[in-house]
Amino acid sequence: MTTSGSTSGATSGSTSGPTSGPGRERQAEIYRGGALGRRPAVPADFAGLERAAHEASTGKAWAYVAGGAGEGRTMRNNRDAFDRWAIVPRMAHGNVTRDLSRDLLGTPLTSPVLLAPVGAGALMGADSDVKIARAAASLGVPYVFSHQGCNPMEETAAAMGETPRWVQLYWSTDEDLVDSTIRRAEALGAGALVVTLDTTVLGWRPQDLTLGSLPFSQGVGIAQYTSDPHFTEVVRRRVAAARQSGAKDDVQVTLGAVRTLLSMTRAYPGRFLANLRSPEPRAAVETFLDIYSNPGLSWDHLATLRERTRLPVVLKGVLHPDDAQRAFDSGVDGIVVSNHGGRQVDNAIASLDALVAIRERVGAEPTVLLDSGIRTGADVFTALALGADAVLLGRPYMYGLAVAGERGVAEVIANVIAELDLTMALTGVADLAGITRDLLVPNPSRQ
Ligand code: FNR
Ligand code: LAC
Repeated sequence: MTTSGSTSGATSGSTSGPTSGPGRERQAEIYRGGALGRRPAVPADFAGLERAAHEASTGKAWAYVAGGAGEGRTMRNNRDAFDRWAIVPRMAHGNVTRDLSRDLLGTPLTSPVLLAPVGAGALMGADSDVKIARAAASLGVPYVFSHQGCNPMEETAAAMGETPRWVQLYWSTDEDLVDSTIRRAEALGAGALVVTLDTTVLGWRPQDLTLGSLPFSQGVGIAQYTSDPHFTEVVRRRVAAARQSGAKDDVQVTLGAVRTLLSMTRAYPGRFLANLRSPEPRAAVETFLDIYSNPGLSWDHLATLRERTRLPVVLKGVLHPDDAQRAFDSGVDGIVVSNHGGRQVDNAIASLDALVAIRERVGAEPTVLLDSGIRTGADVFTALALGADAVLLGRPYMYGLAVAGERGVAEVIANVIAELDLTMALTGVADLAGITRDLLVPNPSRQ
C-alpha cells in the first residue's frame, strides 16, 4: 500500500462511494435505466455498434467511413495485432479507486483517450463536428478537429467550453493556407497542432471507387477551407479569372450533376438561394481539390513549423522507427503511431505492432500516441501497456453519431472509458503508470 489514493476510498473525492469510478458509474447508469425499461442509445459491444451504424448509413457514407485501402488487410492487421496479446490480471491487490488522468504536452486528460480527427462527419449526421464536440465536452475528453471537418473549427471550439481541443492540419500546396490554418488553431486555443503525414494523396479505396464517391467533391468535408479567409480569397480570384476569360462550363446536366451541385450549395457558407446562383461553391470544391494535401511534403517543410507556431507539434501517421526517431530529433513534441485506420496502404503494418518497435527505438520519454484499431477499453489498456501515452478513438465514435447523434457519441466514449476503468480495477492497476508491459503476454491461444 504505497499510495493512499489507490487504497483508500476516502481519498477518491467522489460522492458516489469508495468503489466508484467511470466504470461503475456507467454500469449503474445503464442498469438503473434498464430497471425502468430504458435501453442505452447505442449497443455496448463494437460489433453491435458497427451493425447499427451500417443500418443507419447510406451506402456512400458507409463506404467512406468504414471502408479502407485495397483489400482491407491493414484494418484486419490492426485488429489481429490486439488479439495477439493477452492481459494477465493480478488479484487481491486491494485497490478500490483508480486515477485515469494524465498530462499530455500540457493538455490535462481525465482519461488517456482523445477523439481522432475524422473528416466528412456530416455523412454520419448533420452538424457532425459540433455534436461530437458537445459529446466530448460532456465527458471532458479532448477532440482533435479534422482539417476535413464539416463545421468551421471556431464553431466547433465554441461548442466545447473549456474542454481541450487540438487541431489537425493537412499540409496544403498553398503555404499561406498552412499559415492561416495555424493562426486559426492558435486563436481558438488549440493545445497542439497535429500534422498528418500519411495522406499526401488519398489511398486506393475500392469501396468509394466502386461507387464513384468522394465526399469532398460534393462539398462535404471542406468547411475548414470555405471558412478560411485566405482560401475564400483564392476562390474569389478563381471565379473572377474564369469570368474574365469567358470560360464556358462544359458540365453535362445529369441527375448526378444536379445532386452534386445541390450538395455543394448546401455545404457552402451563406444562404442557399444566393449560393445556388453563385459560381463560388463549385469553385471552392475545385480549389480544394487543387491545393489539398501536398504530395511533396518533406522533413524540410516540417522543419519550418518551429518558426511558424508556438503550439506543441504532433506528427500523425508515423509507422517506421527511423521516422519516429527523426521526428523527435527534429524537435517535434509528439507523434501518433497510426496507419490512418487502414485507409491509406493495404497490408500495412498494424499500428500496435509499429508502436512496439517505435517505443523500443525512442525510449520511454517521448510522447507517443496510438490510433487505428482501438475499439474497446481493453484495447486502450493493451495499447498503454505496450507504451502508448494515450490513444485516439476513431470510427467507433462516428458510428455512435450515425446511430444516435450527440448522445450516441457520448455513450460510445463513456463505454470505452468505463471498460478501461473496469479493466484497471480487475487487473489491480491504480493509475495509468501502473499499466505496464508485464500485465501482457503474447496470447497463447493465438500462437
Ligand atoms: C479518418 N482519419 C483522418 N485523419 C486525419 O488526420 N484527418 C482526417 O481528416 C481524417 N479523416 C478520416 C475520416 C474517416 C472516415 C476515418 C475513418 C478516418 C484517420 C483517423 O484520424 C484515425 O487515424 C483512424 O480513424 C484510426 O482508425 P480506426 O481506429 O478508426 O479504425
Ligand atoms: C480520409 C482523409 C480525409 O481518411 O483523412 O478520408
